[in-house]
Amino acid sequence: MKIAVLSRDERHLIDLARQLRARPETDEVDMIPGAPARLATLADEAIPDVLVVDAPRIVEGDLEQIERLGHLFPKLAFIVLSADLSQEFLLRAMRAGVREVLPPQAGTALDEALDRAADKLGSQGGAPGKVLAFISCKGGSGSTFLATNLAYALSAGGTKKVALIDMNLQFGDASLFVSDSKPLATLSDVATQIHRLDPSFLASSMVAVTPNYGILAAPSDPAHASDVKPEHIDAIVKLARRQYDFIVLDVGRSLDPVSIRALDHADTIYPVLQMTLPYIRDGKRLLSVFRNLDYGKDKVELIVNRHDKNSDIRLKDLEEAFDTPILRTMPNHYDAAAKSVNQGVPVTRLMPDSPLSNALTEMARGLTGESAPVAPTSLMTRLFKRRITDV
Ligand SMILES: Nc1ncnc2c1ncn2[C@@H]1O[C@H](COP(=O)(O)OP(=O)(O)OP(=O)(O)O)[C@@H](O)[C@H]1O
Ligand SMILES: [Mg+2]
Repeated sequence: MKIAVLSRDERHLIDLARQLRARPETDEVDMIPGAPARLATLADEAIPDVLVVDAPRIVEGDLEQIERLGHLFPKLAFIVLSADLSQEFLLRAMRAGVREVLPPQAGTALDEALDRAADKLGSQGGAPGKVLAFISCKGGSGSTFLATNLAYALSAGGTKKVALIDMNLQFGDASLFVSDSKPLATLSDVATQIHRLDPSFLASSMVAVTPNYGILAAPSDPAHASDVKPEHIDAIVKLARRQYDFIVLDVGRSLDPVSIRALDHADTIYPVLQMTLPYIRDGKRLLSVFRNLDYGKDKVELIVNRHDKNSDIRLKDLEEAFDTPILRTMPNHYDAAAKSVNQGVPVTRLMPDSPLSNALTEMARGLTGESAPVAPTSLMTRLFKRRITDV
C-alpha cells in the first residue's frame, strides 16, 4: 500500500513518516511538505492509496481541497490528524469525504486506521467496477429517475465510489435529477478531447453530487451528439472501471452504435417498463434485440417501475409475456418522485421512509453487499457518541 503524509510542520512530517515506515505491509511512504493543495499538482502515478493529512486548517480551505482531491482521485482514502475534534470539525471532515479523524499523536489508532484502509483496498483489490446500464422500454418509464437515484443509494454508505454517465446524447438531463449544479463539461467535451483522458480529467468533467458520486452529463447541445463515437465509450468505460466501484449508464431509449457499445460493456442491463400494454409491446421488441445481440438472460434484468399491485395486468402475466422472471419492481409513489425531481434532490435523501426509497436502498444493498444499516465507520461512531453525550 502506498501512503503519503502531508504536513506543514517538517518535524511532524519526519516523525509520522518514521512511524509509518515501520509498518510491515507498507511498500512506500512519501513525505509531502505543505498544504493539501500541493496534491493537485502531482501526476496520477504519484497519487497514493492513503493520504494522511496532518492538522488541516479550515480557514485556509484545506477541507475543500481534500474534497476536491477525493473527487479527482475517487479511490484515494484520507486519514486526518487534528487537535480539533469538535463536532463541527468532524462533520465538515465527513462531508469532505474523510472517513477517519484521529488526534495528533494517534499512535496505534493511526496503525489501526491504516489497517482498515489496507483491508478495504485488499477487498476491492483493484477489482474492476461494475457497469449497470438502464434503458427505457419506452419514453417516460422512469429509467433516468431510477438510474440517478440508485447511483446515489449505492454511494450513500460512503464506501463506494459511483460514476453515472448520461448517454442520452440528444436531450440528456440526468444530473438535474439529483443536483442543482450546472455541468461544467459533458460527455461530448470528454469525447472531443479523448487524448487527454485520465482519472483526473474524467473526474473533473463530472458534476460532483457528493464526494463519492459524480455524473458525466450529456451534451448540452443536441448538435454535439455526433461528437461521441463508440470507441470513446470503450475508453471512458475502461478507465471508469478502474476508478469507480459502480458505473451507472443512463442509456435512454435509442438504440444506435454508441448506445449498443455502452450496453456491450454492461455487466447488467436493466430495461425499465411500466405495467401497460405499450410498454410491454416495446419491452418485448427490446428483449428480442438483446437476444440478437447475444446478450445472455443473466445479463438482462427487467424492472417494473411504478408498480401497482391492483393493476389489471399482473406480474405473472408479464413473466409469461416476456418468458423471464420479473425480479424487481419499484413502487409507484408520485409524491416522492415528483418532489425529488422538482427539487433535484435524491429521493432516498428527501423522503427516506417512502416505499420507493426503501426499494432503491434495498436494490443498492443487494449490489454493494452492504448490510442494513450501513456499518458505522469510526468517524460516524464518534459523531454519534458525541451527539448522545451532548444531549
Ligand atoms: N416509481 C415512481 N413513482 C412515481 N413516479 C415516478 C416513479 N419513477 C419515475 N417517476 C416519474 O416519472 C417521470 C419520468 O421519469 P424519467 O424521466 O426518469 O423517465 P425516462 O424513462 O428516463 O424518460 P425518457 O425516456 O424521456 O428519458 C419522472 O419525472 C418521475 O417523477
Ligand atoms: Mg431519461
